Amino acid sequence: MSNIGKSSNSAEISPRVAARCVRVCQNRTCKKQGASKVLEAFATLPVADVTVTGSSCLGQCGHGPMVLVLPDMVWYCGVKPNEVPLVVKQHLSGGECVKKMLYYRFHTEK
Ligand code: FES
Repeated sequence: MSNIGKSSNSAEISPRVAARCVRVCQNRTCKKQGASKVLEAFATLPVADVTVTGSSCLGQCGHGPMVLVLPDMVWYCGVKPNEVPLVVKQHLSGGECVKKMLYYRFHTEK
């Protein structure tokens, strides 16, 4: 059941709603491609106001490991653990996506 529209003390909208969330697919295909190591790499490089979580299938199997940064709606494909520091530094800390890693299906201009 949804809490949308219900009145409760916990329904207040936090000003941190816009904080970034990194979703790292941990479903079967991405896991075979090394997604658990990618998630571990993000976990070792925490950034203030950024939450990193494993996710179920992001619907782009075969292009993984897939990483989705919200609310930016920036998709990275084929992410390798050694590329994570660049995403953390340039995108999560610096606010600029890593163009060479963008998922071509959703990011047509590079
Ligand atoms: S298994 Fe990762 S996108 Fe489907």
